[in-house]
Amino acid sequence: MLLPLPGQPLDAVDTPALVVDYDILLDNLTRLQRAADAAGLQLRPHIKAHKTPEIAHLQLRLGAVGVTCAKLGEAEVMATAGIEDIFIANQIVGETKVRRLVALARRVPKLSVAVDSLEVARPIGAACAAAGLTLDVLIEVDTGAARCGVLPERVVPFARELAVLPGLRLVGLMAYAARSYVGDLEQRRAFCRQEAAELAALAQELRADGHDIARVSGGSTPSGPCYEPGCGLTEIRSGTYCLNDHNQVDLGTCTREQVAATVLATVISRPAPDRAILDAGTKALDQQVGKLTEGYGWLVDPPEASVVKINDEHGYLDARAGSLRVADKVRIIPPRICTCLNLYDWMVVAQDGVVRDVWRIAARGRNT
Ligand SMILES: Cc1ncc(COP(=O)(O)O)c(C=O)c1O
Repeated sequence: MLLPLPGQPLDAVDTPALVVDYDILLDNLTRLQRAADAAGLQLRPHIKAHKTPEIAHLQLRLGAVGVTCAKLGEAEVMATAGIEDIFIANQIVGETKVRRLVALARRVPKLSVAVDSLEVARPIGAACAAAGLTLDVLIEVDTGAARCGVLPERVVPFARELAVLPGLRLVGLMAYAARSYVGDLEQRRAFCRQEAAELAALAQELRADGHDIARVSGGSTPSGPCYEPGCGLTEIRSGTYCLNDHNQVDLGTCTREQVAATVLATVISRPAPDRAILDAGTKALDQQVGKLTEGYGWLVDPPEASVVKINDEHGYLDARAGSLRVADKVRIIPPRICTCLNLYDWMVVAQDGVVRDVWRIAARGRNT
């Protein structure tokens, strides 16, 4: 990609390109930070959606307490970018990864990691102890996501087993709020009350059992604005909210106008009246389809066509693309931004239709 220069009109940007609207981004970041502040919660945004140090620094400047990562590779990039408080909300398994985790713990002032079994915790503790370090850990609890996590009734016995391991300090609990992905706002609010109360009760049990539990970590993009003061959590880890995507629009957690990230693509062929072909296929939009509305992408501006079929390098717009001509540029909202953004090395940051900056998506592809 020939990187665009600040001041160039968006229309002059080579395609396919990932474009992020700066004003929408800033608005999304500010809105959730305010909601977290109002609920008395710390915001520790998950960087999996943006993978970009510039956005992480914006989040911190607006009040985030630190960042959350899913992968060691992401955390290494954030550490190199100078971020001093990083939580890896995932299970770190294997000798190579444990070695990398110890190296990371040496250079990040506040590093913490999730654990959900002794098989995961023991090697981490042993390696940290051998290096003369004590690493903060949070027990991952399965509050219904049915992914990783200790079942609630196993939390207290597991904490006792953890407490005797060298090299680790139990500081909290975390859960993945998968069940917040429901369209109904009242259901989402009810989930938030239930998730927070359940984790807070477990934290209390642990305190009564002698553990110093400071962090109770939950949250997602749908749940982010739904918590009430005194809910029982201490922090939330929303991630997708910074950029949003069509799945979030479908869920009603944001409007189309609050989607900051789009794929800029060019119409490269009009072989038939009912067919317009874009230069954006699975390598530019990803293969995910919308969760609620089926499709691979939706045009931001009229005509209201959508990408209905996709090959590696080609996207097929539906018949509503009738008025588009070869060389026209279109902006597409992807169904899911996390996996779409992971296809790009750079994001073009735009403001008022003009290139403002180009940011390297430094943690893109850091999947180990
Ligand atoms: C452990 C964990 N925390 C936080 C998040 C962020 O959730 P969302 O993408 O809804 O913002 C995710 C997303 O997958 C996650 O896995």
